[in-house]
Amino acid sequence: MAYGKNINKILYGGDYNPEQWPPEIWQEDMRLMKKAHISIVTLNTFSWAALQPSEDVYCFDTLDRIMELVKENGLKVCMATSTGAHPAWMAKRHPDILRTESDGKKRRFGGRHNSCPNSPSYRHYAAKLAGKLAERYRDFDNIAAWHVSNEFGGECYCENCEKAFQAWLKERFGTIAELNRVFDTSFWGHTFYDWDEVVLPDLRSEHFIADGRERTMFQGITLEYRRFMSQSMLDCFRLEYQEIKKFMPDVPVTTNLMGFYKPLNYQKWAKEMDFVSWDSYPAPSDTPAQTAMQHDFMRGIKNQESFVLMEQTPSVTNWQPYNKLKRPGQMRLLSYQAAAHGADAIQFFQIRRSVGACEKFHGAVIDHAGRDDTRVFRETAALGEELERLGDVFLEGRTPAETAVLFDWDNWQALENSAGPSILMNYMDAVTDYYTAVFELNVPADIIGADDTFDSYKVLIAPLLYMTKAGLDDKIRSFVNRGGIFITTYFSGIADEHDLVIPGGYPGNLKDILGIWVEENDALPEGEENCFIYKGKMYPARILCDLMHLQGAQALSVYEEDFYQNTPVITKNQYGKGCAYYVGTRSNQEFYSSFMEDIFKEAGAAKTMVTPKGVEAAVRVKDDREILFLLNHNAGKESVVMNHDYMDLLNGTEYPAGALAELNGRDVLILQKLFRLTNIPIV
Ligand code: GLA
Ligand code: ZN
Repeated sequence: MAYGKNINKILYGGDYNPEQWPPEIWQEDMRLMKKAHISIVTLNTFSWAALQPSEDVYCFDTLDRIMELVKENGLKVCMATSTGAHPAWMAKRHPDILRTESDGKKRRFGGRHNSCPNSPSYRHYAAKLAGKLAERYRDFDNIAAWHVSNEFGGECYCENCEKAFQAWLKERFGTIAELNRVFDTSFWGHTFYDWDEVVLPDLRSEHFIADGRERTMFQGITLEYRRFMSQSMLDCFRLEYQEIKKFMPDVPVTTNLMGFYKPLNYQKWAKEMDFVSWDSYPAPSDTPAQTAMQHDFMRGIKNQESFVLMEQTPSVTNWQPYNKLKRPGQMRLLSYQAAAHGADAIQFFQIRRSVGACEKFHGAVIDHAGRDDTRVFRETAALGEELERLGDVFLEGRTPAETAVLFDWDNWQALENSAGPSILMNYMDAVTDYYTAVFELNVPADIIGADDTFDSYKVLIAPLLYMTKAGLDDKIRSFVNRGGIFITTYFSGIADEHDLVIPGGYPGNLKDILGIWVEENDALPEGEENCFIYKGKMYPARILCDLMHLQGAQALSVYEEDFYQNTPVITKNQYGKGCAYYVGTRSNQEFYSSFMEDIFKEAGAAKTMVTPKGVEAAVRVKDDREILFLLNHNAGKESVVMNHDYMDLLNGTEYPAGALAELNGRDVLILQKLFRLTNIPIV
């Protein structure tokens, strides 16, 4: 539930680094923040070197002053622990803290996110610092949350990691015989006789570079290493978490995640975090659906609870090849899009723009001019004022989704480790195909994991479900049996949780549910395609064409070309009270839209509203309130016909059903559904 019970408004603010500035500036910052309606600052993100200048010396003077200052000014604090970058002296005295890259290169001091997660020195000093901070600031009741480290990520291949990996394998598999089985080491005579013969899969062992990517010759061990590395970092998070809780047990603890970030299994991480927070930096070319999908994923990893938008830029980033300005209104639009998908706080990186190093051209609420009459400042302040007026109107509101998209981290890893059938197979692309269709139809969707319950949904879409872990097939079976509609695609049901193929024909344990048997997969090189007709229209079949036999299912479409012409490509199987669809190839967005439209008709799943292309309608439900966000992602004016009585929460305008609401380019309307036309307070 994001910042917790005591917070009754949408907190607004961002990363504030006063330690980079002389104290004379701080008072001015306070004035400007007040003017921008800022209510929370994330402090102390990268101050380890200042807080601990050597082994046993800790120095909190500057932070003490900053904490007093922000408290006096009525600001809440999201308190970071500073362990995202270690001090130089620590790297010199304890070189085990430095990471080793996949090619064996030991890093020297520099950069950030630079500590080996299995370094005893790192674990010791990071946890100690978190504990010291919590002990020192425990009486500050304006601390709304703790923010461990910063954007955990990357990987390490050092000797400490290798030893820890061997211990992890022993713990997971118990016997060498089982280890050899799950890694299928009889292939190429890789049989292990002792745990310490296992080396990390990296560029010195099983990995190689091809097509610009690090590939692997042994999929099982690489998958297991990824699981291990994600867990190693999660253990670091937990060590700090435990230290903080010793002193401040009631204050929630988080760390800032990064959306679909492949190295870490956030579906596991979220279980250890009190609430999810994440940093959203859409590229200018990202579609509204792609941004929404990230929010839905972040909401989904913690039981669909609301999250904190920990960072976004008020204007530009510095790290993209072309750092295009957010257009007037775009920051507001993206902020409300986050809110529409579950954000309960809106925060920026950063409050004041730094003067040195690589982020000096990153956007900030207060830029180098230091003025409050810039476009960015004005837009920030205007949004702050609006959010203040909205109060708690959608706080903790839920998304009323009857559709779920399955996204499984292990499947992502395993699928893209695969050697063959095609390097063009990309899990994110496959999920995006279906999500975009759902999004553009304004059908609310949750993104869920394989361990979540499927019970509350009518439609479950599992694109490219290559890996079916033990028990997943049974969950799908009972979902369909009791009336659900299940959709999966080409190259699904292939492998088990160790990435070992399930023998007996594809799609493995899903065959009976889908009523098909896939015999071969034809990987078409870029530019080549087959095609099929669906509901009278021709669509392309790309990347992979599954060649299949019907075993109870009916064919909805067949391939039009090649030696497998007239064989099924899209199938439907009645199973129990429900049915299961198999889409045996990758097509285009037009197909996915038309296909999903039909599925929703069949399922009786409601659209939030019918809107012009580029206008999103998303809903959050809180108690008996239904808040509708109408978001015009287009640069030009659009109008929407209301399907119910609504009232604009910002200006009180009422829209009876059938009325036309006009939205300027990039404008947003925040509307409350009216069940009676009186007694609704205007905020
Ligand atoms: C990340 C980090 C911040 C900052 C921003 C810049 O999200 O957490 O410290 O570097 O990127 O975009
Ligand atoms: Zn290491």
